[in-house]
Amino acid sequence: MNPKKLAADKAIEYVTDGMIVGLGTGSTAYWAIEALAKRVREGLNIRAVASSNHSEQLAKQGGIPLVPFSDIELIDVTIDGADEVDSQLNLIKGGGGALLREKILAANSKTFIVIVDESKKVEHLGRFPLPVEIVPFAESLTIRQIQQLDCITTIRTVEGKPFVTDNGNLIVDCEFGKILDPIELHKQLNLLPGVVENGLFPSMASKVIVGHLDGSVELIDSADSMN
Ligand code: A5P
Repeated sequence: MNPKKLAADKAIEYVTDGMIVGLGTGSTAYWAIEALAKRVREGLNIRAVASSNHSEQLAKQGGIPLVPFSDIELIDVTIDGADEVDSQLNLIKGGGGALLREKILAANSKTFIVIVDESKKVEHLGRFPLPVEIVPFAESLTIRQIQQLDCITTIRTVEGKPFVTDNGNLIVDCEFGKILDPIELHKQLNLLPGVVENGLFPSMASKVIVGHLDGSVELIDSADSMN
């Protein structure tokens, strides 16, 4: 059994009629969008807002009714993947480059459910380079400021060309080593002019659902993780 699908199938149990649902991006969120589309075809009545052009396409193909960001005031539940999850449910996201819209959805959701396979659980964040979205016109200046926070930076490229986000920005992948204080680093990065958003999601997840290779599914609630 695919552990990503297992986690996604569990997460969509939290979606009920009438909800506005935030759709994540990535190979795990894919399974949640597929499963939701199936339930919509079976009669589930929801509206969804997508965190990327790619997820919007998937939702459209699956027949999930979509609303733009500008038409909603609050999201009932957002279901999204993550690149790393620590024991306090802090996250690194943005491996797919959709971190800005993903964070807007997460921050405006009553419930933010993170779905991962077991490989994403870590003791400390930072093995996965932290994606930071920056404005393209001040690329070098902004990167210089980021480097002063003590990290090694790489501008993300695809086939030799800069990767451009759905918002027209660039992504800098930053190797900080172990991130011991994600809340502080999150603040420091977002204070830099030119940084649009960073991929740290500190204490934002309501629940993390972990799919295991042995077929089991682990549910970690934010209330329990703080104890
Ligand atoms: C997209 O920008 C990311 O935040 C993804 O949610 C994250 O990279 C996890 O992706 P996978 O589910 O493909 O591992």
